[in-house]
Amino acid sequence: MRDLPNIVILTGAGISAESGLATFRGPEGLWEGHRVEDVATPEAFVRDPELVQRFYDARRARLKEVEPNEAHRALARLDAGWRGDLLIVTQNVDDLHERAGAQRVLHMHGELNSAWCLACDARVRWMEGLSDAPPCPECGTRGALRPDIVWFGEMPYGMDRIDAALREADLFVSIGTSGAVYPAAGYVRTARYVGARTLEMNLDPSQGSLFFDETRLGRAGKLVPAWVEELLAGH
Ligand code: OAD
Repeated sequence: MRDLPNIVILTGAGISAESGLATFRGPEGLWEGHRVEDVATPEAFVRDPELVQRFYDARRARLKEVEPNEAHRALARLDAGWRGDLLIVTQNVDDLHERAGAQRVLHMHGELNSAWCLACDARVRWMEGLSDAPPCPECGTRGALRPDIVWFGEMPYGMDRIDAALREADLFVSIGTSGAVYPAAGYVRTARYVGARTLEMNLDPSQGSLFFDETRLGRAGKLVPAWVEELLAGH
């Protein structure tokens, strides 16, 4: 074991729930009667681009009304205070980790505040709606901007960097994710395979619970600050 363990943290919608953002598979997980799988696909975008743009416009607008919570802030403290390797891999498309001050964050499913131009391939910072087909700031094409979000069937971002971090991990921690969506759901098994300790913090046991050495059940806003204090106090 190294002096300072290498840490990989995987976060999901549950870490942002206490900020007021709905999770995907919870009771409020439906949007105008649609399951996320019905709007978060390239096929849905071809079939009904307006519906898909409105779905993400609503989420982008909601982002302006919410703030990071205690769990995001605790991870930002850990990021600032941990001299060893650390990577926060988030499945979330919100910017609450960054707004809390975390820097070593990788958005494997993309970001709400980014748009991707299908005409010129540029990625541009985007805080407003996309349903009114605004022109791309880079090439001027109208109606070519799509949310820079990884949809079902598309390749998540940063896979090489995530794999490299997992291979070197001594501690893998999963926070607020149901373990329903791959490849993220498989990371605990990779971490175990390389001999990392595995810890899960979630409201309910996730689908991959049996793969974790330890499961702490409860709200992220309570569990994560306590865990971060433990870790920082030990080093
Ligand atoms: P889910 O909605 O599937 O799961 C959220 C998890 O958080 C559940 O297991 C809840 O029990 C837990 N939870 C809820 N409130 C919590 C709290 N206050 N503290 C701790 N845990 C809490 O969300 P994800 O696992 O993130 O992908 O979903 C994975 C992916 O599926 C998303 O990134 C998204 C979605 O389709 C894309 O959009 C590509």
